[in-house]
Amino acid sequence: MRYLTFALGKGRLANQTLELFEKIGVTCEEMHDKDSRKLIFTNEELKLRFFLSKGPDVPTYVEYGAADIGVAGKDTILEEGRKVHEVLDLGFGKCRMCVCGYRQAASYLKHRELIRVATKYPHIAKDYFYNTRHQTVELIKLNGSIELAPIVGLSEVIVDIVETGSTLRENGLDVLEEVCPLSARMIVNPVSMRMESERINDLLSRLQAQL
Ligand code: PRP
Repeated sequence: MRYLTFALGKGRLANQTLELFEKIGVTCEEMHDKDSRKLIFTNEELKLRFFLSKGPDVPTYVEYGAADIGVAGKDTILEEGRKVHEVLDLGFGKCRMCVCGYRQAASYLKHRELIRVATKYPHIAKDYFYNTRHQTVELIKLNGSIELAPIVGLSEVIVDIVETGSTLRENGLDVLEEVCPLSARMIVNPVSMRMESERINDLLSRLQAQL
């Protein structure tokens, strides 16, 4: 039997995913060793392999078949636009993609003005402004601390993830519009889905029963 390989985005998502797998009896002892610099872990008995990558790289590994299955945030899946099948909403990592800014910026949206939009997610932002809102904007890609942009005058609004809303609150910013809800999703390589359908469907139904 060949290994089924899983790509998990490093961090909280990976931990929650492994917890969920443990509940359905899929364990990987090796992974709990915090001091290890090992990148890939195997469960010989079940013929499974797990590796941790940067979150945005998960859909890439899955599209190319280097991983059969991946777990990534819906934000990452939308932004990367890879050819993968999204098969399951894992229900954790729930948050929202939103257009945010100072309350006064709402009028720029209302009148579809040519504003600057800062974001870590230029594809999601572009799709939302051009295809949903039909508003031409100037997109500015940033890599983090997006909330700074309206504060220092880099952009009128941002497109960013809102979870508890406390980052916005503490900086006097508001949610102006919701783009879409987000959560952790399981994705599968299309060829693996056909070639390993029995093992993957069995895994999916056990996960579903647990959720
Ligand atoms: C994310 C997001 C917001 C914040 C939202 O940033 O970009 O800044 O969390 O969470 P909240 O609504 O609970 O305050 P993250 O901490 O991942 O870091 P980043 O700014 O480097 O993207």
